[in-house]
Amino acid sequence: MNNPLHVIILAAGQGSRMKSRQPKVMHAVAGRPMLHHVMATARSLGATALHTVIGHGAEQVRAGTAADDVQWALQAEQLGTGHAVAQALPAVSDDAVVLILYGDVPLTQAATLQALVNQVTADQLALLTVTLDNPQGYGRILRDEKGAVQAIVEQKDATPAQLAIQEVNTGILAVQASHLKSWLPQLSNSNAQGEYYLTDIIAMAVKQGMTIAVSQPANAFEVQGVNNRSQLAELERWYQRQQAETLMAAGVTLADPARLDVRGDVSVGQDVFIDVNVVLEGRVQIADDVSIGAGCVIRDATLGAGTRVEPYSVIDGAVIAEAAQIGPFARLRPGTQLAARTKVGNFVETKKAVVGEGSKINHLSYVGDATLGRDVNVGAGTITCNYDGVNKYQTVLGDRVFVGSNSALVAPVTVAADATIGAGSTITREVAAGELAVARGRQRNIANWPKPEKK
Ligand code: UD1
Ligand code: CA
Repeated sequence: MNNPLHVIILAAGQGSRMKSRQPKVMHAVAGRPMLHHVMATARSLGATALHTVIGHGAEQVRAGTAADDVQWALQAEQLGTGHAVAQALPAVSDDAVVLILYGDVPLTQAATLQALVNQVTADQLALLTVTLDNPQGYGRILRDEKGAVQAIVEQKDATPAQLAIQEVNTGILAVQASHLKSWLPQLSNSNAQGEYYLTDIIAMAVKQGMTIAVSQPANAFEVQGVNNRSQLAELERWYQRQQAETLMAAGVTLADPARLDVRGDVSVGQDVFIDVNVVLEGRVQIADDVSIGAGCVIRDATLGAGTRVEPYSVIDGAVIAEAAQIGPFARLRPGTQLAARTKVGNFVETKKAVVGEGSKINHLSYVGDATLGRDVNVGAGTITCNYDGVNKYQTVLGDRVFVGSNSALVAPVTVAADATIGAGSTITREVAAGELAVARGRQRNIANWPKPEKK
């Protein structure tokens, strides 16, 4: 079928069991609101339009969703899932296939939904069901003696015999818009909950001679909704396990697949090693033979081939070339660019620092708003004084500059190639190529100094 796909995401419910000031759908799985997972999946299906029905916390949901491809529909009062879909329907084109998703069911696989959408025809509605050991609370799928789906009955409206049915409604379905537009106005709320049930359209479809095509997800987690924080944590663990499996399949050794958290998009080369308790966030690119030590947090960064990141380093917004050595306990902030074979050691902080090939900042330094040439050696305890309280200034160190320990480089300042800075210097003026700059109090030795005595 070539009909446009319109996705309607229901997200108006309160989620009171979350015990939160935040709308439920804005709670995060893998660092990203559940609703945004659902939207990303919908986009990956090539949806022409994305309708989201909001109600509780509507303003917070909108404010937290930076997307110009979303059409919002407000459901001021939550009168049921059928009523919710009806709020979005006026903006759905008549020739569309509509896929209904839930903002609090974040991890449905695109392939599962694509298979569902593919089953839709003028005479066929596609329904996603799942069979549960404990079907408590869900709508039950009613089939006739031939196994054809006839209707859905909600928990609160079901007879004891119907309650024994273990096949339940996931809530996810796909159908032509034209059918929805004729059925929804016919829904009534004369049921146990006084709601307009979307599920009543199944019986309407059957009554007009349509068939209900049923499919099931590969894994029940795909259709698991979140009602409380315990279920949120369960989904998080399942999602993380999938991420770990994907990385291992791509050639990464994980010290423990249960102790890696991926909150973004990670690309990896081969023979990467990741030790325990590492967090990868945003866009992270990891080339071949990279090793990441325990407890590192790496966000929006690129790590070149053979680079080693020692334990407890934090790397944010940095681009690192091949065979660099970082940490332990290093902090690389946005705008850090390290060339090949650079070393940034323990208790070093860098920010907007461009560091040339082979240069070393091995211990206890702050290097910010700085450009370093090749084979520069920055001694322990060196600080670029880049800020006068109002503006930021640049420090430039030429190739092979040697900065003695405990030096302060007061920016703006340039130290030309092959210059040396004596330890403990406060450098405020330009140093020319090859010069030695010493800027510290001279040592004075006093002979026969009488030591103070205890009174
Ligand atoms: C619904 C289904 C049930 C299914 C279950 C799966 C109906 C009548 N029942 O039950 O068959 O087994 O989902 O979880 O559809 N929502 C709105 N506006 C409303 C009501 C709900 O936006 O007026 C949204 C909620 O925010 C939620 C979703 O729709 O994301 C489902 O609502 P919920 O109340 O959880 O549905 P159930 O009654 O549990
Ligand atoms: Ca529910």
